[in-house]
Amino acid sequence: MEDIASRLKVKPLWFDDAERKFVWLDTRLLPWEEVYRSTTDYRRVARAIKDMEIRGAPAIGVSAAFGMALAAIYSGAGTVEELLKKLEEAKRVLASTRPTAYNLFWALERVWRRAVEAASGTSKVSEVVEAVLAEAKEIYYEDIRQNMAIGRYGAELIEDGDTILTHCNAGALATAGYGTALGVIRAAVEQGKRIKVFATETRPLLQGARLTVWELMKEGVDVTLITDNMVGYVMSKGMIDKVVVGADRITVDGYVANKIGTYMIALAANRHGIPFYVAAPTSTFDPNLRGPSIPIEERDPSEVYTVLGRLRIAPEGVKAYNPAFDITPPELVTAIITEKGVVTPPYVESIPRLLGLGARRG
Ligand code: MRU
Repeated sequence: MEDIASRLKVKPLWFDDAERKFVWLDTRLLPWEEVYRSTTDYRRVARAIKDMEIRGAPAIGVSAAFGMALAAIYSGAGTVEELLKKLEEAKRVLASTRPTAYNLFWALERVWRRAVEAASGTSKVSEVVEAVLAEAKEIYYEDIRQNMAIGRYGAELIEDGDTILTHCNAGALATAGYGTALGVIRAAVEQGKRIKVFATETRPLLQGARLTVWELMKEGVDVTLITDNMVGYVMSKGMIDKVVVGADRITVDGYVANKIGTYMIALAANRHGIPFYVAAPTSTFDPNLRGPSIPIEERDPSEVYTVLGRLRIAPEGVKAYNPAFDITPPELVTAIITEKGVVTPPYVESIPRLLGLGARRG
């Protein structure tokens, strides 16, 4: 069977079977340095997520799943009960890293359920360990396949000659590979469509400038960098045909949490009649949330009054506010592209149908 990961041009993370360790590209150092790190310690995985060496909702979920696998492999547990206790602790530590990305909680829950299920059928620690590792690998491969499917569905919405604006990095570097929003762009380019991309720099951590531009240039995609405050102007000049962004969490009624600044872009797109698409796997949908109730991570204010911690850009003692995400309401979202197809308004009906939840109103 073909290893689908071998098709990836940018491979941000994987599990090294020979050395039973988790490997990832430290995205904090891009575009200056391409440094791969590895560990056998789930706590190190948690730190990599918290410190944003690994970031982007699907990448966070997949890494947390491998964190659970490491916790199982290296637990030292003598009994299945002891192993479950260690895994429960690892789940708690990994879950406390970043609060907005739903994929994190989804992946942890999935691996945990697999562990409990395996434990109910055996008293052999090694069997539960292998089940946990197998589940993490399934999540990894599924993510790549789902991104490619998102790409195929999304590319149908893209026309030859389109200029697409994207925000933050919803690319290979934010997933197990290929990307969601950038997956749509990749698939359109692979189909031979001539696509131009405008990437916002994405203050304060510059994921657009550092990561999106890096991965698109690597593949020869025509990309133009703009600062976040240029979006309204380029739209008013007719320079943008479509917006495609990723998501960290989507509620059952279509509220979308994504990188801070997304809401402003959606407002501007709406004003200018530009389609605003969100690309995300179904693992980003929170079946338990409705309305603008998504928990939003607040990060250290120093990210705002410095440039990447290197250069202070405001007077000593300044107050700063640093929400990492915002929420775009469903009425500004033209469609959501998932691995199961494209959903359109009314989301209150189409999302529950997509998730197999049965439509709910009100
Ligand atoms: O803070 P980050 O860099 O983890 O934020 C990432 C985003 O907002 C992405 O758009 C989102 O996670 C989707 S990634 C496919």
